[in-house]
Amino acid sequence: MDLGLRGKKAIVTGATKGIGRAIVYLLAAEGADIGLCARTEDEVAQAVREISARGVNVVGETVNVRDGEAYKAWLERAAAALGGCDIFIPNVSAGGGMDSEKNWVKAFEVDVMHTVRGCETLMPHLERSGTGSIVIISSTNAVETFGGPMAYNAMKAALLTYSKQLSQHVGKKGVRVNCVSPGPVYFDGGAWELVKGTMPKLYDWAMKQIPGGKMGTPEEVARVVAFIASPAGSLVTGANVIADNGFTKRVQF
Ligand SMILES: NC(=O)c1ccc[n+]([C@@H]2O[C@H](COP(=O)([O-])OP(=O)(O)OC[C@H]3O[C@@H](n4cnc5c(N)ncnc54)[C@H](OP(=O)(O)O)[C@@H]3O)[C@@H](O)[C@H]2O)c1
Repeated sequence: MDLGLRGKKAIVTGATKGIGRAIVYLLAAEGADIGLCARTEDEVAQAVREISARGVNVVGETVNVRDGEAYKAWLERAAAALGGCDIFIPNVSAGGGMDSEKNWVKAFEVDVMHTVRGCETLMPHLERSGTGSIVIISSTNAVETFGGPMAYNAMKAALLTYSKQLSQHVGKKGVRVNCVSPGPVYFDGGAWELVKGTMPKLYDWAMKQIPGGKMGTPEEVARVVAFIASPAGSLVTGANVIADNGFTKRVQF
């Protein structure tokens, strides 16, 4: 199946590791031009080098998405350098952690506000695209209780409601908006490798919840994201697509 991604311009936040990295490498392999950011300079440079070797245009910068003004300026620069934006994937998260007030504010500023600011800044470009598509990376932590009362879970849930409402609002302008919610995704240097080493009981419990007995890989999540982001996913909007190998137990009506 041709996803129709050749020549599309995709901007992805947090794309040097894990899921974000797998997304930009796959989109580039499908012929999309890429704008990416992260905070670590040599890793941004490496991603830009490796992706440009695939023959697509790629621009990357070090940006902390928590810094609203710097982040919005980068988004505008990236869209200008690419000549527009057809696909936006806000992928950065502040992650889980202690339930302190400081952590709630950080989670709000990173998970929620970087998504909202990104959608608002890039919307004029997405409207001009004709196939504009936003895929917000949420989590199964938003739809079932997991790990106690954490800001992470609540912010990921906020993204689901925001995504649905935005999809209704911008649908008439030809822009689709969806969430992809991965379950546990394992990769070297990722959160679940850390959990395996430091909280083996939690890791074993999570593994037991997965009927297929295998956590996802970044590449498996990227394939789901690429389809929904692409023109091939033209009917899908306002959805929350769970990609968790059966980790969650609810019936999804
Ligand atoms: N891994 C899982 O099991 C899992 C499950 C469900 C949902 N998710 C979601 O999937 C998304 C990606 O997760 P992941 O596990 O692949 O993450 P990850 O391995 O921690 O990678 C995060 C990426 O974002 C960059 N980044 C982090 N904070 C940033 C900031 N403030 N500004 C700019 N860039 C920043 C990181 O690079 P620098 O550190 O250099 O900035 C890196 O490129 C997140 O939204 C996460 O909540 C993950």
